[in-house]
Amino acid sequence: MRTKHLFINTMGCQMNVYDTGQIQNRLAPLGYLPTEELEKADMIIVNTCSIRDKAEQKAFSFLGRLAPLKQRNPDLIVGIGGCVAQQEGRRILKRMPFVDLVFGTHAIGRLPGIVQRIIEKRCRVVDVEISETISPDDYLLDGYPQTDTSAFVTIMRGCDNYCTYCVVPYVRGRESSRAPEEIVAEIEHLVSKGVREVTLLGQNVNSYGLKEGRGGFVRLLKAVNSLEGLARIRFTTSHPKDLSPELMACFQQLDKLCHHIHLPVQSGSDAVLKRMNRRYTRKAYLEKVEQLRALNSDLAITSDIIVGFPGETDEDFEETLSLIRQVEYDGLFAFIYSDRPNAPAVKFSDKLDDTIKKERLQQVLTTQEVFTLKKHNALVGAVQEILVDGLHRSNGDQEEIRDKTALNPEWSGRTSTNKIVHFARNDSTQSDNQMLTGKIVRIMIEKALPHCLLGRQVSSEEASDASGKGDRTHVA
Ligand code: 5AD
Ligand code: SF4
Repeated sequence: MRTKHLFINTMGCQMNVYDTGQIQNRLAPLGYLPTEELEKADMIIVNTCSIRDKAEQKAFSFLGRLAPLKQRNPDLIVGIGGCVAQQEGRRILKRMPFVDLVFGTHAIGRLPGIVQRIIEKRCRVVDVEISETISPDDYLLDGYPQTDTSAFVTIMRGCDNYCTYCVVPYVRGRESSRAPEEIVAEIEHLVSKGVREVTLLGQNVNSYGLKEGRGGFVRLLKAVNSLEGLARIRFTTSHPKDLSPELMACFQQLDKLCHHIHLPVQSGSDAVLKRMNRRYTRKAYLEKVEQLRALNSDLAITSDIIVGFPGETDEDFEETLSLIRQVEYDGLFAFIYSDRPNAPAVKFSDKLDDTIKKERLQQVLTTQEVFTLKKHNALVGAVQEILVDGLHRSNGDQEEIRDKTALNPEWSGRTSTNKIVHFARNDSTQSDNQMLTGKIVRIMIEKALPHCLLGRQVSSEEASDASGKGDRTHVA
């Protein structure tokens, strides 16, 4: 079989990163091997995201660039997958005559058959069929093309929460969970290939398995925690309304569970939360944050904020800023509200002006900056365990870091709290020239920057000396 080249542009969230792995491995038996060179590709797939208007625009703008490639090479197959494909379906074929294939979020398992048909009949195909439940055939156990230290594992898909701004329930379908034994088998497989850390993915992992009576998320976490060879577990995303005391307790009880939770609040105003259909109040959210911190004092908490939701007043927005100050998040993702097809908020009145929305976004970012740096600064002088994900890619930053700090941070990894650390090996470990990737090493944090930490590897003795510094030393 002739080797053919497959170029995939993955846009949007981690779920799409996982799906891209599934697409690659589904198409490998047909002779398609991944390439990073667009010009060389026999097939180009754009795995799209439609969570916000900007993401959708980006997908169409990339697709627009593909027309001349198809003109030059009529045998090229151009496919569009993911949420925009699900949302737009057949309309894409009309709008973009050079597209051969539109496949929705539930069609990945059917791709080999579809691609065969396109090759044999040179037809155009649209498959946006959506099913209520997950079947074991929807996921390949070796779906993730693993060369990395960390891997994503989708544990459920869809969402039943219907937040009024959100397109997900319409493009990813009803919430449905994979069987725990399949998830565990997939992680065992990943570990056997060298993966040390998994991130369990779902729109709302807190409600994993409840619908199917498959045991809840805590039971799954415990099963994953017991897997030998796995070093770290992360998960995302948690809906605050479903964050149970049992799940919170896992941050105290499970040794592999990383000390980080992403807990999107979206707004600090009860009136806005209500119109968003978030089904928690500011008070209830803050209580959960307090309980989490009581259980695990160094737990990092990050969040998502939407600014400029329809009808958001100055007072509502001030409540968001005050919540950010009260929580002191480790990091924030902030977004300008945009109308999404089918989402109920499209029909809400009192849409805000773009200028106000942009100003509010800036205010959120400026408010948060202080806390991100504060959290980073608090780690200077502490020893942290870092899972090394590879050599720090050389860029302008690195030159600047070297000049300013006399450090030579050639390696990179993350703390349990998900902070990026660039570090240098120290003299005593320099002779040991083995690859560090995939190892957990102890790093003395020496400098805090807005987006990362810098440090140097320390020996075990130095690490235990530093533990005299009390609660500033965290080894997770
Ligand atoms: N407009 C702006 N932000 C949105 N998000 C989801 N839908 C929208 C929208 N219509 C944000 C939310 C969510 C994150 C993934 O994207 O903050 O948590
Ligand atoms: Fe969208 Fe809300 Fe579901 Fe998250 S919980 S995916 S914001 S509907």
